[in-house]
Amino acid sequence: MEKKDKVSMAAIRRLPKYYRYLKDLIDKDVEKISSKELGNIMGFTASQIRQDLNNFGGFGQQGYGYNVRELHGEVGKILGLYKNYEVVIIGAGNLGQALSNYTNFEKTGFNCKAMFDVNPRLIGMAIRDIVVYDFDDIEDYLENNDVDIAFVCTNKESAQDVASKIANTGKISAIWNFAPTDIVTPEGIVVENVHLIDSLLTVTYRIKD
Ligand code: NAI
Repeated sequence: MEKKDKVSMAAIRRLPKYYRYLKDLIDKDVEKISSKELGNIMGFTASQIRQDLNNFGGFGQQGYGYNVRELHGEVGKILGLYKNYEVVIIGAGNLGQALSNYTNFEKTGFNCKAMFDVNPRLIGMAIRDIVVYDFDDIEDYLENNDVDIAFVCTNKESAQDVASKIANTGKISAIWNFAPTDIVTPEGIVVENVHLIDSLLTVTYRIKD
């Protein structure tokens, strides 16, 4: 599998959908699938499917289609799912607690090790076995524990400061930010902003009349 030099971010953003649909097909014991059939269930054209997968070397065989299990494995590898990722959650309020309760993260390879908050009423609490620590101790924690990704679930006003503090330790690779503000980090640290309201506003746009 060879990745072409310049794969568009739009193509990369479609890959998790391939990964999800291929897993569903595995669960239904489907062994092989053509680009046309896969396109039909995913809402893409067959040529879009072929074009997307060709970006990464192409995995199908003329006249056979794709081996579902193999393709799922390859897409997983492209997405970096050949290893587990260690995660911490910053902000142990409603959303932070909900994320720490979501067991599908573990199933996909994301291990949540700890949560951090500034609220004394939350510090010391545990959700499943994930303990909430004082955010004042975050630098020590990152110094002594391998963490790949921080989920930022604080209020909007704190999010940038929180992100800067953890990014400046140089100990994490990425921030998954849920606060409704676009945070900025030093180069080399990946930030993915998840703005649920943005998605909801596309719903109102489509139903407005
Ligand atoms: P929340 O108010 O329940 O929780 C925020 C937590 O962040 C609090 O426990 C607070 O003590 C903590 N916090 C504040 N400053 C901090 C700091 N410097 N270091 C560590 N922790 C700090 O809010 P909620 O509902 O959990 O939302 C969290 C964020 O996610 C907000 O920015 C919200 O807009 C956003 N969001 C929430 C959704 C939801 O369904 N609750 C959905 C989408 C986004």
